[in-house]
Amino acid sequence: MLRLDDHPSGRHFLQIPGPTNVPDRVLRALDHPTIDHRGPEFARLTLEILGGLKKIFQTDGPVIIYPASGTGAWEAALVNTLSPGDRVLMFETGYFATLWRRMAAKLGLEVDFVAGDWRSGVDPAAVEAKLAADKAREVKAVMVVHNETSTGVTTRIPPIREAIDRAGHPALFMVDTISSLASIDYRHQEWRVDVTVAGSQKGLMLPPGLSFNAVSDKALAASKSARLPRSYFGWDEIISGNRDGYFPYTPATNLLYGLHEAIAMLLEEGLPAVFERHRRHGEATRRAVRAWELDLLCRNADEYSSSLTAIRLPDGHDADRFRRIVLERFDMSLGTGLGKVAGKVFRVGHLGYFNDLMLAGTLCGVEMGLGLAGVPHRAGGVQAALEYLAGGERPGELKRNKIEARVGSTAS
Ligand SMILES: Cc1ncc(COP(=O)(O)O)c(C=O)c1O
Repeated sequence: MLRLDDHPSGRHFLQIPGPTNVPDRVLRALDHPTIDHRGPEFARLTLEILGGLKKIFQTDGPVIIYPASGTGAWEAALVNTLSPGDRVLMFETGYFATLWRRMAAKLGLEVDFVAGDWRSGVDPAAVEAKLAADKAREVKAVMVVHNETSTGVTTRIPPIREAIDRAGHPALFMVDTISSLASIDYRHQEWRVDVTVAGSQKGLMLPPGLSFNAVSDKALAASKSARLPRSYFGWDEIISGNRDGYFPYTPATNLLYGLHEAIAMLLEEGLPAVFERHRRHGEATRRAVRAWELDLLCRNADEYSSSLTAIRLPDGHDADRFRRIVLERFDMSLGTGLGKVAGKVFRVGHLGYFNDLMLAGTLCGVEMGLGLAGVPHRAGGVQAALEYLAGGERPGELKRNKIEARVGSTAS
């Protein structure tokens, strides 16, 4: 029989860009006995979670929780707001944008898919030009992947919102934040996004199995007349059950315990500190890559991802062979190249429950693996990252100093 924890001594390094390392606090929360999902204790749990989620998504509106992977929340966003034959505008930023497009087409939507090079984000000028040309206002939704997990490219959302506004276009705006929520600053309400799609297994530090739709009033209004078939994913029954803290089906109770704890951890650290921690780790990783004289897949400095880095190997070197060597020798999982970039890139996840020394260990494994795999590179990437990490004050230090000051004042 398969043994579930059949790793060598020490913790496995799970450095794929999701699922991410699940904190011990969350693991312990998952471990509580399952309770009656129609009882009073459960209602309190749901209401606290829904309040916390509003802070994480930065919205006053409803956030819907699905017992589904991120793909389920993609489908929910579409079936709740659109009708058969509706035109939608999507952008080929990478593998996940391509999968969302494929789903939209399967559901009977007409997709205008703007080609991309898998190295850059969505161009606001292209959004504006497409929408300005749509005189008949046939485009019903614009869909963007905030952080392309396959490429390590982050599209800046406010300029896309501004482009839609400049075109004076009424289309709904939907954003996939599956690998950015709780890692990279994201503001559902301020940026006037209509449907935000998210998942549990990345910045939220949970196992896979939950996903989310944050919803605007405009999206709720659209859902009243949308005609794509939906039942299980319908927002209306879930929102009405949630008012009292319940769900119209058996919810994933233990994952919700984990979510409650993960929200507490994120809010204790503070979202600005969470975003800054991710930014630093992205920057340190890129310094290592530059010192190794390898290439980043992301072309533009203002689109670098804080949650993962995709690194190109020189021609003739197989990224999956390199990853296999790292796994076998150092017990570390790195992200594989997906779709068009399979075998050409590997991805380092630096999101979720993560700190400086975990990043240092990760980069050591990469540097040693490059040597063992015979990939041409210069030594010194780890050193470059360490110098960056050791310089300046870290948000964690600030927090610890505050705790010490508090403990000190209680003791005296
Ligand atoms: C940006 C993005 N969108 C969608 C998905 C699909 O989510 P899931 O695999 O949880 O169904 C992923 C998965 O990694 C993703 O990274």
